[in-house]
Amino acid sequence: MDSEHKEEKIYPQGYEPEISPDSSNDNTRNQLLDFILKSGPSEVVDTDLFAVMAKRRSTRKFSDKPVETTKIDKIIAAADTAPTAGNYQGFEIFYVKSPEKKKLLVEACNKQPYVDAPVVLVFCKNPFRVKFDFPEYILAKFAIQDATLAAGYSQLASQALGLSSIWIGMFDEKKVMDVIGTDLIPSSVLCIGYPEQTKFPKPRRNLKDLVHVVW
Ligand SMILES: Cc1cc2nc3c(=O)[nH]c(=O)nc-3n(C[C@H](O)[C@H](O)[C@H](O)COP(=O)(O)O)c2cc1C
Repeated sequence: MDSEHKEEKIYPQGYEPEISPDSSNDNTRNQLLDFILKSGPSEVVDTDLFAVMAKRRSTRKFSDKPVETTKIDKIIAAADTAPTAGNYQGFEIFYVKSPEKKKLLVEACNKQPYVDAPVVLVFCKNPFRVKFDFPEYILAKFAIQDATLAAGYSQLASQALGLSSIWIGMFDEKKVMDVIGTDLIPSSVLCIGYPEQTKFPKPRRNLKDLVHVVW
């Protein structure tokens, strides 16, 4: 395989992972993640999954500190480990780097200023990847679940890396699509960065209100 082919296969234009996956091994399930696993959890702040979940708290004020590329690699790799319907991976990630486009996204997201975050990932549904012979509405349902779950994995990975995030669901779909230049419908915008301050997690419901036992 020539080097040009390798690049085309692995890197989208404008995003080159800090740690370069080994593209010569086509059997690797997830090339970026594979390399990350081999490289060790050097900058993972918290490897206790439950502690990561327990401490996560949405952030709407990010510091200006840029997010290291190795962390962005891991955040994207985490999304790529999520289960998807039939393993068809019915979602896409749009990594918005342009400051101008981030500003347009703020507008598209109901003028929420924190959308102009250090790292902005738009998760879109891609039902065209889901090749089951099922009605269209089922494929659409799978794609939204795929995209949502992947974004959730990225959100937890961000927390594990000492970052924080805000999940944006309030947006004008058409405007977001225009900004990122796609026909695919977005499911969430994940804004990530170093938090200006660490906050305590928000309370949740009582267990008796949450869990409904079915005998
Ligand atoms: C589906 C969904 C949509 C959301 N949309 C927005 C949003 O548009 N703007 C915002 O500031 N927060 C949004 N959030 C973040 C929630 O407000 C936040 O997760 C919730 O208040 C719980 O706080 P926590 O994340 O700190 O536990 C959204 C979260 C989810 C899961």
